[in-house]
Amino acid sequence: MATESTSIHGEWSGRLAFILAATGSAVGLGNIWKFPYITGENGGGAFVLVYLLCILLIGIPIMMAEILLGRRGRQSPMNTMATLAREAGAGQAWKLLGIMGVVAGFLILSFYSVVAGWALAYVERAATGAFTGIDKAGVEQLFAGLVGDWERLLGWHTLFMVMTVVVVARGVRKGLETAVSVLMPLLFLILVLLVGYAIAQGDFARAVEFMFRADFSKLTGESILVAMGHSFFTLSLGMGAIMIYGSYLPSHVSIGQVTLVVAIADTVVALLAGLAIFPIVFSQGLEAGAGPGLIFQTLPLAFGQMPGGAIIGVMFFVMLTFAAWSSAISLIEPAVTWLVENMSMPRATAAVTTGFIAWLLGIGTVLSFNEWRDVTWFGRTFFDNLDFLTTNIMLPLGGLLISIFVAWIMQRAHLLDELEMPDGAVFQLWHFLIRFFAPAAVIVIFLNSVGII
Ligand code: TRP
Repeated sequence: MATESTSIHGEWSGRLAFILAATGSAVGLGNIWKFPYITGENGGGAFVLVYLLCILLIGIPIMMAEILLGRRGRQSPMNTMATLAREAGAGQAWKLLGIMGVVAGFLILSFYSVVAGWALAYVERAATGAFTGIDKAGVEQLFAGLVGDWERLLGWHTLFMVMTVVVVARGVRKGLETAVSVLMPLLFLILVLLVGYAIAQGDFARAVEFMFRADFSKLTGESILVAMGHSFFTLSLGMGAIMIYGSYLPSHVSIGQVTLVVAIADTVVALLAGLAIFPIVFSQGLEAGAGPGLIFQTLPLAFGQMPGGAIIGVMFFVMLTFAAWSSAISLIEPAVTWLVENMSMPRATAAVTTGFIAWLLGIGTVLSFNEWRDVTWFGRTFFDNLDFLTTNIMLPLGGLLISIFVAWIMQRAHLLDELEMPDGAVFQLWHFLIRFFAPAAVIVIFLNSVGII
């Protein structure tokens, strides 16, 4: 049996609550906004295949490892790593993993909140009937008008950050657990509805071919890195978010089972989003590689033409906001718990402090779409750099360190104990994947993307 300890910050009411919260963290802008646009930018099928393999062979095993660490440590990621390193007789340098996670969380939330602000802005647009009868030029103008105006972006970014801080301040259990349990199934239904519309009205065959026919000539070292990075991003891995959620997991729940449920739900939502968007992209002659504006330029076209589209449009962007909201809270939870544990801050003060730092950093992303559009470092805008650094470097590095710690430093008996598994084929497969395959794959993909191999 796993040790019967609990975290000072609280505990989920049970297995289902954890699944909802972890799915709430995993399913977000990454699935609906980011997955379609990076698939478009990286040529489709081959990229999707690499992404799916990364989820299966790297993401799922590392997710189990990260939840395991959290549940055994029962504290903020930094203190969890310190405790478990002590238990295993390893050095305190492992705390750095927690610190890197906190930094990554701030950086990701800073741009995540800006994009979630676009979703909020589109709720308002949809509600005022801006999509009715809109055409290709119209949607492009609508999007350009929003992101070109830094004051409006800043306003929506501020609103979203306040929403995030309020929920985190009150504790995860109260507000969000309930909201998410209603809204996530609804979001799923709307996505299915949109796929139905795309089948009826869009170029569905071409979309399926684009997403699932692998043309490996389109795959570059960098697109493999992007696919791997996204598998970490979409499952919320590598920075302590899932670790902290694992620390609230009751001892009797099977880590393997909950991981599978969350990973499958997350992947299905991403694929549905792609199947809703690409048929419209192709039938309307839009650009698959249009970048971060992709869903904001395709879906309004669909909403503008379908019967009941005005209402469905409002509902969709409301749900997208909620999906982003339940993800955003997990991005600052590691920093908040650390401040509570180490600085003895009340939870609310810690939430406001972290939210403020992320908000300030977010101003850089706000400006990247207008005033600083042409200012680049290493050929990328401020936003693209943040995204690249966190998603493609920091998260995989965090995942690499997690797998090394769990597979090479911790005692095997403790792993069996925490996973509550017999030492059979499933355990051995998992152990092989995190001991050899996942670390090797991350290193090879890193080296390959910089052209070393
Ligand atoms: N997984 C979320 C999404 O796909 C984003 C997210 C939430 C995240 N928490 C995270 C990404 C922690 C990386 C790490 O939208």
